Parts: sequence; C-alpha cells; structure tokens
Amino acid sequence: MAIVMDGNGRWATDRGISRAEGHRAGGRALADVVQGALEIGLSHLTVYAFSTENWKRASAEVAALTDMVREHIEDEEHLRYDVRLRWAGSPDGLPLDLVDALVHHEHLTRHRTGLTFTVCVNYGGRAELAQAAGAIARAAVAGQVDPARISEHQLARYLPLPDLPDVDLLWRTGGERRTSNFLPWQSTYAELLFTDGYWPDVDRRDLWRAMTSYAQRQRRYGAAPPGPQLPPGQRP
Ligand code: IPE
Ligand code: IPE
Ligand code: MG
Repeated sequence: MAIVMDGNGRWATDRGISRAEGHRAGGRALADVVQGALEIGLSHLTVYAFSTENWKRASAEVAALTDMVREHIEDEEHLRYDVRLRWAGSPDGLPLDLVDALVHHEHLTRHRTGLTFTVCVNYGGRAELAQAAGAIARAAVAGQVDPARISEHQLARYLPLPDLPDVDLLWRTGGERRTSNFLPWQSTYAELLFTDGYWPDVDRRDLWRAMTSYAQRQRRYGAAPPGPQLPPGQRP
C-alpha cells in the first residue's frame, strides 16, 4: 500500500490555523495509520511525506514538513513497534539532522520483520528512475552488464530501493486525482483509490476501508476477464 497524504494545508485553512499546524495534524494521522497497518498485518506501507517539488513552498512550511517526519521517526513509542523504517529520496537540501535520523533509524530497525514502512522524503519518481539509469550505465561501463540484454527485471535491481515491491493499492486523500511523481516504476499496475477527505481527518479505520475496497477489485494484468463457460462443441 502506498499513500499520498494530501490535504493538510486545506484542512488547516478551513480551521483558520497555519499550514504548519495542518502538517502536525497530518503527523498524528500518520501515527494512527501505522498502528492500523500493524494491527491488520500489512507487510509494506509507503508514504509520500515530502516531494522534490515541495521545495517550491515557503521555507517555514518546508520546515514544518521535515519536522513532522523527524518527530514521527524519533518518537520513542513508535520505536517500540515491529516496524522496519526505510527512506526513499535524496539527501540534497534536507537538514543534516533529519538525514542523520533517517539513516540512523533505517540501520537501527534493519532486522525487523513486522511492517516495512518506507517514508518518501525529498522523493521524486523520475529522479529515482534517472538514478537507476545512471547506476546501470556505470555497471555497463564496468563490463558487469550487457546493454543489449537489459531487462525490466535487471533494471529494477538498480533502483535505489530494489526490494520495494510493486504497489498493489495507491491511495491518495485530499480529492486530487493525480499521482504527482510518486512511485512511477512500482505502481504501473497499482489499483488507484482517490478519496476526498483531507489527510489529517484520516485514521486507521480509513486504512482498513481502503484495503476492503481493494479486496473487491479484479486485477487482470492484461488478461481477458474470466467469461462464462460455453457448453462443449459451441464456439465463442
Ligand atoms: C500534503 O498536504 C502534505 C504535503 C507534504 C505536500 P498539502 O500541504 O499538499 O495540503 P493541500 O493539498 O495544500 O491541502
Ligand atoms: C504530493 O502532494 C506530495 C506529498 C503528499 C508529499 P502535493 O500537494 O505536493 O501535490 P500537487 O502539487 O497537488 O500535485
Ligand atoms: Mg497538496
């Protein structure tokens, strides 16, 4: 499951409070959703916390977003749970203490097996693909890869997080129907769910509802839908 946690700003504006407050409330919603993911036994949860495009916002808002991430990963209570933290994104421009905290907690939780929780901070999908292209090009120059034989499977091994599985359900809150440069490689066949509520109003029950709606989808991966069985001898 991958989530674009959108709507913090509008949630705050509706209440006449600062966008920064909206991001803090968004952090609380995230904490509850992580609990819900643990309770239901989800194996992978990937959330979009800060995109490479979000640098266009005022510096105070950027600071509120990075503070939200830092508080979430450093929260003593969260650290007690069986959660393996991963970080997807670039360190460029991020506060050094946040980069340190992300790297430190990735290391600290690397042997955990409960929930793999990937936080996308300073993440851009195309940037990730460009990074993979650079890595595989270097391997080709070094003679480790034959450019004539590069398969999808082989390219995927050069992504920054090669073990991040394909997304089954990509859920975006906040009413927009777009993916905003989130996980383009991993979500080519994802089921998409767009809900109108703002992220700070979400809790674990919404996660469970999203999973229930996913369970009712029929995935075909290009195959024909199963049709009615024809009696023997009758042509379709
Ligand atoms: C999502 O909420 C948080 C982000 C990191 C971008 P927004 O801050 O985008 O909220 P809206 O879309 O302006 O309401
Ligand atoms: C996507 O939300 C990024 C995150 C939730 C981190 P945005 O609010 O930045 O996306 P756009 O600008 O509406 O596409
Ligand atoms: Mg938004």
